[in-house]
Amino acid sequence: HDYDLLVVGSANADLVVGVDRRPGAGETVLGSDLAVHPGGKGANQAVAAGRLGARTALLARVGDDDHGRLLLDSQRAAGVDTVGVLVGGAPTGVALITVDPSGDNSIVVSPGANSRLTPSDVRDAGSLLAAARVVSLQLEIPLETVAAVVRAADAGFGDRSGPRVVLNPSPPAPLPADVLAACDPLVVNEHEARYLLGDDPDGNATDPEAWAAALLARGPRSVVVTLGGAGALVADHDRTVRIPSLPVEAVDTTGAGDAFTGALAWRLGVGDDLETAVRYAVRVGAAAVTRAGAQVSFPTADEVAAL
Ligand code: RIB
Ligand code: NA
Repeated sequence: HDYDLLVVGSANADLVVGVDRRPGAGETVLGSDLAVHPGGKGANQAVAAGRLGARTALLARVGDDDHGRLLLDSQRAAGVDTVGVLVGGAPTGVALITVDPSGDNSIVVSPGANSRLTPSDVRDAGSLLAAARVVSLQLEIPLETVAAVVRAADAGFGDRSGPRVVLNPSPPAPLPADVLAACDPLVVNEHEARYLLGDDPDGNATDPEAWAAALLARGPRSVVVTLGGAGALVADHDRTVRIPSLPVEAVDTTGAGDAFTGALAWRLGVGDDLETAVRYAVRVGAAAVTRAGAQVSFPTADEVAAL
Protein backbone atom coordinates (compact mmCIF):
# COMPACT_ATOMS: atom_id res chain seq x y z
CA HIS A 1 0.00 0.00 0.00
CA ASP A 2 1.27 3.46 -0.90
CA TYR A 3 -0.98 5.27 1.59
CA ASP A 4 -1.88 4.70 5.23
CA LEU A 5 -4.89 6.90 4.61
CA LEU A 6 -6.96 8.24 1.72
CA VAL A 7 -9.34 11.03 2.69
CA VAL A 8 -12.28 11.64 0.35
CA GLY A 9 -14.13 14.84 1.13
CA SER A 10 -14.47 18.59 1.16
CA ALA A 11 -12.01 21.44 0.99
CA ASN A 12 -13.23 24.91 2.03
CA ALA A 13 -11.80 28.33 2.56
CA ASP A 14 -12.81 29.23 6.12
CA LEU A 15 -13.83 32.89 6.48
CA VAL A 16 -13.66 33.38 10.23
CA VAL A 17 -14.91 36.28 12.38
CA GLY A 18 -14.76 36.41 16.18
CA VAL A 19 -17.98 37.65 17.82
CA ASP A 20 -19.03 38.44 21.39
CA ARG A 21 -22.35 36.82 20.58
CA ARG A 22 -24.16 35.65 17.43
CA PRO A 23 -26.79 37.90 15.85
CA GLY A 24 -30.45 36.87 15.90
CA ALA A 25 -32.72 37.16 12.85
CA GLY A 26 -32.77 40.74 11.55
CA GLU A 27 -29.92 41.77 13.86
CA THR A 28 -26.45 43.13 13.04
CA VAL A 29 -23.38 42.74 15.27
CA LEU A 30 -19.80 43.88 14.75
CA GLY A 31 -17.04 41.25 14.87
CA SER A 32 -13.26 40.98 14.71
CA ASP A 33 -10.98 41.34 11.68
CA LEU A 34 -11.56 38.62 9.08
CA ALA A 35 -9.24 35.60 9.03
CA VAL A 36 -9.09 33.33 5.96
CA HIS A 37 -7.85 29.82 6.77
CA PRO A 38 -7.69 26.53 4.84
CA GLY A 39 -10.49 24.25 6.08
CA GLY A 40 -13.18 21.80 5.03
CA LYS A 41 -13.76 18.55 6.88
CA GLY A 42 -11.97 16.37 4.31
CA ALA A 43 -9.00 18.67 3.79
CA ASN A 44 -8.73 19.09 7.56
CA GLN A 45 -8.53 15.34 8.16
CA ALA A 46 -5.85 14.94 5.49
CA VAL A 47 -3.71 17.78 6.90
CA ALA A 48 -4.10 16.43 10.44
CA ALA A 49 -2.83 13.02 9.38
CA GLY A 50 -0.13 14.39 7.09
CA ARG A 51 1.30 16.67 9.77
CA LEU A 52 1.51 13.71 12.14
CA GLY A 53 3.61 11.84 9.58
CA ALA A 54 1.00 9.70 7.83
CA ARG A 55 1.35 8.71 4.19
CA THR A 56 -1.85 10.45 3.11
CA ALA A 57 -3.68 11.32 -0.09
CA LEU A 58 -6.73 13.54 -0.58
CA LEU A 59 -9.48 13.05 -3.16
CA ALA A 60 -11.39 16.34 -3.39
CA ARG A 61 -12.38 19.15 -5.75
CA VAL A 62 -11.49 22.83 -5.49
CA GLY A 63 -12.07 25.79 -7.81
CA ASP A 64 -9.45 27.31 -10.10
CA ASP A 65 -9.10 30.31 -7.77
CA ASP A 66 -7.09 31.76 -4.88
CA HIS A 67 -9.01 29.75 -2.28
CA GLY A 68 -8.24 26.55 -4.18
CA ARG A 69 -4.55 27.42 -4.26
CA LEU A 70 -4.59 28.18 -0.52
CA LEU A 71 -6.00 24.69 0.09
CA LEU A 72 -3.52 22.93 -2.21
CA ASP A 73 -0.61 24.77 -0.54
CA SER A 74 -1.79 23.69 2.90
CA GLN A 75 -2.06 20.04 1.83
CA ARG A 76 1.40 20.07 0.28
CA ALA A 77 2.96 21.76 3.31
CA ALA A 78 1.59 18.90 5.43
CA GLY A 79 3.07 16.33 3.03
CA VAL A 80 -0.28 15.18 1.65
CA ASP A 81 -0.29 13.75 -1.90
CA THR A 82 -2.60 16.03 -3.94
CA VAL A 83 -2.67 13.95 -7.13
CA GLY A 84 -6.38 13.32 -6.36
CA VAL A 85 -7.32 16.98 -5.86
CA LEU A 86 -9.33 17.97 -8.94
CA VAL A 87 -9.47 21.62 -9.97
CA GLY A 88 -12.35 23.49 -11.61
CA GLY A 89 -16.06 23.18 -12.25
CA ALA A 90 -17.18 25.72 -9.63
CA PRO A 91 -15.62 28.12 -7.12
CA THR A 92 -13.87 26.57 -4.12
CA GLY A 93 -16.20 25.80 -1.22
CA VAL A 94 -16.46 28.48 1.46
CA ALA A 95 -17.32 28.16 5.15
CA LEU A 96 -18.68 31.25 6.94
CA ILE A 97 -17.62 30.80 10.56
CA THR A 98 -18.24 32.76 13.74
CA VAL A 99 -16.22 31.93 16.86
CA ASP A 100 -17.47 33.09 20.27
CA PRO A 101 -15.45 33.89 23.41
CA SER A 102 -15.82 30.30 24.71
CA GLY A 103 -14.16 28.96 21.53
CA ASP A 104 -17.38 27.50 20.13
CA ASN A 105 -18.21 28.03 16.48
CA SER A 106 -21.17 28.06 14.13
CA ILE A 107 -20.64 27.35 10.48
CA VAL A 108 -22.53 27.79 7.21
CA VAL A 109 -20.92 26.02 4.25
CA SER A 110 -21.38 26.96 0.59
CA PRO A 111 -20.14 23.71 -1.00
CA GLY A 112 -19.18 25.11 -4.44
CA ALA A 113 -16.69 22.73 -6.08
CA ASN A 114 -17.26 20.12 -3.33
CA SER A 115 -20.74 19.51 -4.72
CA ARG A 116 -19.17 18.70 -8.13
CA LEU A 117 -17.11 15.75 -6.84
CA THR A 118 -18.96 12.92 -8.59
CA PRO A 119 -19.09 9.10 -8.55
CA SER A 120 -17.37 9.26 -11.92
CA ASP A 121 -14.45 11.16 -10.29
CA VAL A 122 -14.32 8.28 -7.79
CA ARG A 123 -14.12 5.70 -10.60
CA ASP A 124 -11.26 7.67 -12.18
CA ALA A 125 -9.43 7.61 -8.83
CA GLY A 126 -9.76 3.84 -8.35
CA SER A 127 -5.99 3.39 -8.11
CA LEU A 128 -5.84 5.76 -5.11
CA LEU A 129 -8.49 3.75 -3.32
CA ALA A 130 -6.73 0.47 -4.09
CA ALA A 131 -3.47 1.90 -2.70
CA ALA A 132 -4.88 2.91 0.72
CA ARG A 133 -5.24 0.92 3.94
CA VAL A 134 -8.00 3.16 5.27
CA VAL A 135 -10.42 5.54 3.55
CA SER A 136 -12.03 8.31 5.59
CA LEU A 137 -15.14 10.23 4.55
CA GLN A 138 -17.53 12.97 5.78
CA LEU A 139 -20.72 14.41 4.25
CA GLU A 140 -19.77 17.78 2.73
CA ILE A 141 -19.62 16.14 -0.71
CA PRO A 142 -22.60 14.50 -2.48
CA LEU A 143 -23.95 11.44 -0.66
CA GLU A 144 -23.92 9.44 -3.91
CA THR A 145 -20.16 10.10 -4.13
CA VAL A 146 -19.63 8.95 -0.55
CA ALA A 147 -21.70 5.84 -1.26
CA ALA A 148 -19.67 5.09 -4.42
CA VAL A 149 -16.42 5.21 -2.42
CA VAL A 150 -17.77 3.06 0.40
CA ARG A 151 -19.17 0.45 -2.01
CA ALA A 152 -15.91 0.27 -3.97
CA ALA A 153 -13.92 -0.10 -0.75
CA ASP A 154 -16.28 -2.78 0.51
CA ALA A 155 -16.16 -4.72 -2.77
CA GLY A 156 -12.34 -4.82 -2.74
CA PHE A 157 -10.03 -5.27 -5.70
CA GLY A 158 -10.01 -8.78 -7.11
CA ASP A 159 -8.58 -11.02 -4.41
CA ARG A 160 -7.39 -8.04 -2.34
CA SER A 161 -9.70 -6.47 0.20
CA GLY A 162 -10.37 -2.75 -0.10
CA PRO A 163 -9.51 -0.12 2.50
CA ARG A 164 -11.16 -0.05 5.92
CA VAL A 165 -13.93 2.60 5.97
CA VAL A 166 -14.08 5.42 8.54
CA LEU A 167 -17.09 7.74 8.20
CA ASN A 168 -18.01 10.90 10.09
CA PRO A 169 -21.58 11.76 8.98
CA SER A 170 -21.15 15.53 9.24
CA PRO A 171 -23.21 17.47 8.48
CA PRO A 172 -25.68 14.65 9.24
CA ALA A 173 -27.86 13.13 6.51
CA PRO A 174 -29.73 9.82 6.16
CA LEU A 175 -27.27 7.02 5.30
CA PRO A 176 -28.04 4.00 3.08
CA ALA A 177 -27.99 0.77 5.11
CA ASP A 178 -25.05 -0.73 3.22
CA VAL A 179 -22.96 2.43 3.76
CA LEU A 180 -23.69 2.35 7.49
CA ALA A 181 -22.86 -1.35 7.64
CA ALA A 182 -19.41 -0.81 6.11
CA CYS A 183 -18.29 1.75 8.72
CA ASP A 184 -15.51 0.60 11.04
CA PRO A 185 -15.89 2.91 12.86
CA LEU A 186 -18.77 5.30 12.38
CA VAL A 187 -17.56 8.48 14.16
CA VAL A 188 -20.30 10.73 15.57
CA ASN A 189 -20.67 13.57 18.04
CA GLU A 190 -23.78 13.95 20.18
CA HIS A 191 -25.63 15.96 17.53
CA GLU A 192 -24.91 13.42 14.78
CA ALA A 193 -25.79 10.48 17.02
CA ARG A 194 -29.17 11.97 17.89
CA TYR A 195 -29.84 12.79 14.23
CA LEU A 196 -29.08 9.25 13.03
CA LEU A 197 -31.16 7.72 15.80
CA GLY A 198 -34.12 9.87 14.77
CA ASP A 199 -37.29 8.40 16.25
CA ASP A 200 -35.38 5.73 18.19
CA PRO A 201 -36.11 6.19 21.92
CA ASP A 202 -32.37 5.82 22.58
CA GLY A 203 -31.89 9.03 20.61
CA ASN A 204 -33.40 10.84 23.58
CA ALA A 205 -31.14 9.11 26.09
CA THR A 206 -28.50 11.31 27.68
CA ASP A 207 -25.82 8.67 27.94
CA PRO A 208 -23.51 8.04 24.99
CA GLU A 209 -23.39 4.33 25.85
CA ALA A 210 -27.07 4.11 24.86
CA TRP A 211 -26.45 5.98 21.58
CA ALA A 212 -23.51 3.73 20.77
CA ALA A 213 -25.52 0.56 21.42
CA ALA A 214 -28.47 1.81 19.37
CA LEU A 215 -26.18 2.88 16.50
CA LEU A 216 -24.37 -0.48 16.54
CA ALA A 217 -27.75 -2.18 16.15
CA ARG A 218 -28.06 -0.38 12.79
CA GLY A 219 -25.11 -2.24 11.35
CA PRO A 220 -21.73 -0.51 11.63
CA ARG A 221 -18.86 -2.73 12.75
CA SER A 222 -17.84 -0.19 15.39
CA VAL A 223 -18.86 3.23 16.70
CA VAL A 224 -16.90 6.11 18.20
CA VAL A 225 -18.86 8.85 19.97
CA THR A 226 -16.87 12.05 20.48
CA LEU A 227 -17.68 13.93 23.67
CA GLY A 228 -15.79 17.22 23.25
CA GLY A 229 -13.84 18.06 26.40
CA ALA A 230 -14.97 14.76 27.96
CA GLY A 231 -13.04 12.63 25.45
CA ALA A 232 -14.67 9.82 23.47
CA LEU A 233 -16.46 6.52 23.73
CA VAL A 234 -15.44 3.43 21.73
CA ALA A 235 -17.92 0.65 21.11
CA ASP A 236 -17.93 -2.52 19.06
CA HIS A 237 -19.98 -5.68 19.37
CA ASP A 238 -17.76 -6.94 22.24
CA ARG A 239 -17.26 -3.95 24.49
CA THR A 240 -17.68 -0.27 25.23
CA VAL A 241 -14.87 1.88 26.65
CA ARG A 242 -14.71 5.55 27.65
CA ILE A 243 -11.50 7.36 26.80
CA PRO A 244 -10.94 10.58 28.79
CA SER A 245 -9.50 13.71 27.19
CA LEU A 246 -6.75 15.99 28.49
CA PRO A 247 -7.58 19.20 30.33
CA VAL A 248 -6.85 22.01 27.85
CA GLU A 249 -8.03 25.58 27.46
CA ALA A 250 -10.27 25.82 24.38
CA VAL A 251 -9.44 28.78 22.13
CA ASP A 252 -11.12 27.58 18.93
CA THR A 253 -12.71 24.16 18.49
CA THR A 254 -13.10 24.55 14.69
CA GLY A 255 -11.83 21.42 12.99
CA ALA A 256 -10.84 19.65 16.22
CA GLY A 257 -13.23 16.82 15.39
CA ASP A 258 -11.60 16.53 11.96
CA ALA A 259 -8.13 16.41 13.55
CA PHE A 260 -9.42 13.66 15.85
CA THR A 261 -10.88 11.60 13.00
CA GLY A 262 -7.90 12.11 10.68
CA ALA A 263 -5.53 10.96 13.43
CA LEU A 264 -7.77 8.03 14.31
CA ALA A 265 -8.03 6.87 10.70
CA TRP A 266 -4.25 7.10 10.28
CA ARG A 267 -3.54 5.09 13.43
CA LEU A 268 -5.93 2.39 12.22
CA GLY A 269 -4.07 2.41 8.90
CA VAL A 270 -0.77 1.66 10.62
CA GLY A 271 -2.30 -1.20 12.61
CA ASP A 272 -3.42 0.20 15.96
CA ASP A 273 -6.52 -1.39 17.46
CA LEU A 274 -9.52 0.93 17.73
CA GLU A 275 -9.11 1.79 21.42
CA THR A 276 -5.39 2.59 21.05
CA ALA A 277 -6.12 4.72 17.99
CA VAL A 278 -8.82 6.67 19.85
CA ARG A 279 -6.47 7.25 22.82
CA TYR A 280 -4.02 8.88 20.43
CA ALA A 281 -6.69 10.80 18.53
CA VAL A 282 -8.15 12.48 21.64
CA ARG A 283 -4.70 13.97 22.30
CA VAL A 284 -4.57 15.31 18.75
CA GLY A 285 -8.05 16.81 19.10
CA ALA A 286 -7.12 18.37 22.44
CA ALA A 287 -4.03 20.01 20.96
CA ALA A 288 -6.07 21.38 18.06
CA VAL A 289 -8.50 23.30 20.29
CA THR A 290 -5.70 25.26 21.97
CA ARG A 291 -4.98 27.34 18.85
CA ALA A 292 -7.09 29.40 16.45
CA GLY A 293 -8.19 28.06 13.08
CA ALA A 294 -8.59 24.53 11.75
CA GLN A 295 -5.63 23.18 9.74
CA VAL A 296 -3.28 25.90 11.00
CA SER A 297 -3.92 24.71 14.57
CA PHE A 298 -3.18 21.00 14.09
CA PRO A 299 -0.22 19.51 15.99
CA THR A 300 2.87 17.64 14.85
CA ALA A 301 3.64 14.22 16.35
CA ASP A 302 6.24 15.87 18.64
CA GLU A 303 3.65 18.32 19.95
CA VAL A 304 1.25 15.46 20.68
CA ALA A 305 3.97 13.56 22.53
CA ALA A 306 4.77 16.67 24.60
CA LEU A 307 1.15 17.15 25.76
O1 RIB B 1 -15.23 20.81 10.79
C1 RIB B 1 -14.74 22.11 10.60
C2 RIB B 1 -14.87 22.49 9.18
O2 RIB B 1 -16.24 22.53 8.86
C3 RIB B 1 -14.34 23.86 8.84
O3 RIB B 1 -12.99 23.88 8.47
C4 RIB B 1 -15.29 24.30 7.72
O4 RIB B 1 -14.66 24.42 6.48
C5 RIB B 1 -16.40 23.27 7.69
O5 RIB B 1 -16.23 22.39 6.65
NA1 NA C 1 -8.25 25.05 16.48
